[in-house]
Amino acid sequence: MGILDTLFRINKSKVAYDLSDLGVDVHSHLIPGIDDGAQTKDQTLGMLLKFKELGYKKVITTPHIISDLYRNTPEIILAGWKEVLAMVNEHQLDIEVEVAAEYFLDEFLLEKVLKKEVLSFGENNVLFELSFSSPPNQLAELVFAMKTNGYVPVLAHFERYPYYFSNAEEVITDLRMKGVKLQLNLNSLTGHYGPQVRKQAELMIDNGWVDLVGSDCHRIDHLNLLERNLTLNYFHKLKELHLMNRQL
Ligand SMILES: [Fe+2]
Repeated sequence: MGILDTLFRINKSKVAYDLSDLGVDVHSHLIPGIDDGAQTKDQTLGMLLKFKELGYKKVITTPHIISDLYRNTPEIILAGWKEVLAMVNEHQLDIEVEVAAEYFLDEFLLEKVLKKEVLSFGENNVLFELSFSSPPNQLAELVFAMKTNGYVPVLAHFERYPYYFSNAEEVITDLRMKGVKLQLNLNSLTGHYGPQVRKQAELMIDNGWVDLVGSDCHRIDHLNLLERNLTLNYFHKLKELHLMNRQL
């Protein structure tokens, strides 16, 4: 990254973007021990306290459901959520915790959608992710199934899929026309996932191609990194976007 890029990204006034502008986080892994996020209740507690400190009033946590890795079911997730709610109550944390899931697009997801057995948030929004290594085969089919079954497809961290680095506009135009909402990871703006992901995230913000933003917090380090970078210009640009976070 060149020095000019660096200078451009840093807000001259050094004012940190206030995350209470968003109020709600829509993507995180806070339920202990069921995916690659929090592993202990103490870790969950630490992250919830940090969310609160950063200005959030609600977090919608979204454990992974990946058939050959994290075989979570709505029952497992809802049981874990109840444990988290008990913790929030016990420690009198002043933050709301809701739950949905982050579905990996595999051969089983379509069936779950057709049976209406998916966890959603807000007005039937369903968060799903794609493989990082190869473009999806069943994306159009999935989106159609979601739409015809009353769900709103929310594609997680679009900026992170390498096979869309060169054709974002074309793909996004098509997805949005089909009613897909796009979720961006806040830490993509910090360079956490590399320079190309950062560039893609910035392009999406510049073009207003972002419907929701999320922390995708797996560990408290993710929130600390975010906090250290809130003076970047691109965080301030979020104020101009019509983000669904503010309505949840
Ligand atoms: Fe995630």
